[in-house]
Amino acid sequence: MQQMQQLVDYIGVDYPGAISQGKVQNEVEYAEMLDFANTVAALAENLPVSPVKEAVTEEVVHLKELVSSKASAKQVSDVTGNIRQLLINGYDLAVVPGKLPDLQHGKALFAAQCTACHGEMGKGDGSIAATLKPVPTDFTDLERYHQRTLYGLYSTLTHGVEVTRHSQKMTVGRWLSTWGSWRLCPICSRQVNSCSLRTT
Ligand code: HEC
Repeated sequence: MQQMQQLVDYIGVDYPGAISQGKVQNEVEYAEMLDFANTVAALAENLPVSPVKEAVTEEVVHLKELVSSKASAKQVSDVTGNIRQLLINGYDLAVVPGKLPDLQHGKALFAAQCTACHGEMGKGDGSIAATLKPVPTDFTDLERYHQRTLYGLYSTLTHGVEVTRHSQKMTVGRWLSTWGSWRLCPICSRQVNSCSLRTT
């Protein structure tokens, strides 16, 4: 379910980079959006029984249709928002940590484990950044971080993302505890006013 939520969030955030005004802007991104939408549909089928399952499935079908018909970013993000809300309500998804994260520890973790790629200030310009494809995310990209949610970042940190350098995966989650992941979220978004990071 967490993976499903993560992919749904990615569709909402990255879709405008793939499609603009009904036209493909970026083939690779668009292929990824289609792929994510299919995976989400498969994951939705396996959701545990719940009063919201049917509604989620309907929204997911709608999402797939929107993505394949190159609908507007607004239509897509409305549906991804609906799915997020249904999952939160129907499955008690914990979208915020139970207590305030320890930022000092988060900072130390970031400095030790993340700066080689993401850069000291999180701008995505670390020492090995140029050798990576895709390039590390710029955490200071205000527009992106108005879309990203605290839970979305947490989810990425727990599951990792594909980084195609030596087919290495950013499997941060493998060695981060749940608490480590939560602590790093505000650090990643520290350039952006972290209070504005959406929690739902
Ligand atoms: C080996 C290089 C590398 C290391 C080390 C690394 N990252 Fe990443 N990270 C990446 C790349 C590349 C991406 C972008 C992937 C993409 O666009 O699909 C990324 C994406 C992310 C994202 C997704 C951001 C978003 O808005 O979707 C987060 C969060 C993140 N990294 C946090 C971290 C944290 C925290 C650490 C340290 C614990 C870390 N990363 C260590 C390469 C790295």
